[in-house]
Amino acid sequence: MGPLAQPAGSQRTNDSTPTSRLEMTGINVAFGGVLALTDVSLTVEPGQVHGLIGPNGAGKTTLFNVACGLVRPSSGRIAWRGEEMRRLKPSKLTSLGIARTLQGVGLFPGMTVLENVMIGAHRHARAGFFSALLALPTSDKDERLLRERAMRALVELGAGEYAGRYPGSLPYPVQKRVALARALVSEPDLLLLDEPASGLSEDEMHELGDLIRSVVGRMSVLLVEHHMDLVMRVCDRITVLDSGKQIAAGTPAEVQNDPAVTEAYLGDAVDADADAAELTHAEGGRPHA
Ligand SMILES: Nc1ncnc2c1ncn2[C@@H]1O[C@H](COP(=O)(O)OP(=O)(O)O)[C@@H](O)[C@H]1O
Ligand SMILES: [Mg+2]
Repeated sequence: MGPLAQPAGSQRTNDSTPTSRLEMTGINVAFGGVLALTDVSLTVEPGQVHGLIGPNGAGKTTLFNVACGLVRPSSGRIAWRGEEMRRLKPSKLTSLGIARTLQGVGLFPGMTVLENVMIGAHRHARAGFFSALLALPTSDKDERLLRERAMRALVELGAGEYAGRYPGSLPYPVQKRVALARALVSEPDLLLLDEPASGLSEDEMHELGDLIRSVVGRMSVLLVEHHMDLVMRVCDRITVLDSGKQIAAGTPAEVQNDPAVTEAYLGDAVDADADAAELTHAEGGRPHA
């Protein structure tokens, strides 16, 4: 099994749902003299969409990167499925049942769309049944199964027709759907999304919201997002950061009516107007759920 080998405790179990909880507790991160996060705690509950919002520079991406193992906190605790992750590494995410999309797209330009998605299941395939099935396709049958799974993920994302194309030749929103298919093909228990709606039109954003709601039966989602109406529509819980600190947390309705949140957004010179307007107009709850 080589690099795919995992300690027994981190292996996937079939009844993972009740414990597929990501807990980040008392997280502190400092970059040089800048305190990017101060004593922040956030728990993504199994089967829920947890939104992470806040003005520019609030620390959202930093906390997201802590959850991916890209940034190591100076103190704090991360537990996944009830187990403390002392040395969470990005290269181990897939084997832990965690998938992510980063800000931007990040597809391989020299591979077709289908091959890009196959890589999502392939490159760091998780230990256990799926690694046997997917990680090292030693037979034509394995290769075919992997291809079929990748194709299914593309079709689910409405991008099946682009399977044979190269990413560079496709419109940005399609590339983003392919990147999402690549994250979903590993059948994660936790999906981490950093600003997935950036660069999307209103309609595409709406579709993205529906898509996120449609996957929560199978996985939990941590959604870092800037577009308030999307966040209000799809999230079960929301954490609001400002200047590296949590200023509010709760249901969309609770957060929306919290004066500290409106104030933080109004204080943010760059995106304040758009965000504050969205915050005011966004409906709480999930009309399409
Ligand atoms: N690698 C880094 N080195 C130094 N400072 C950083 C780094 N990453 C983020 N920061 C700082 O940490 C703070 C939080 O940034 P970030 O997490 O990117 O905010 P957000 O995603 O909410 O816009 C900002 O003040 C930012 O300048
Ligand atoms: Mg960011």
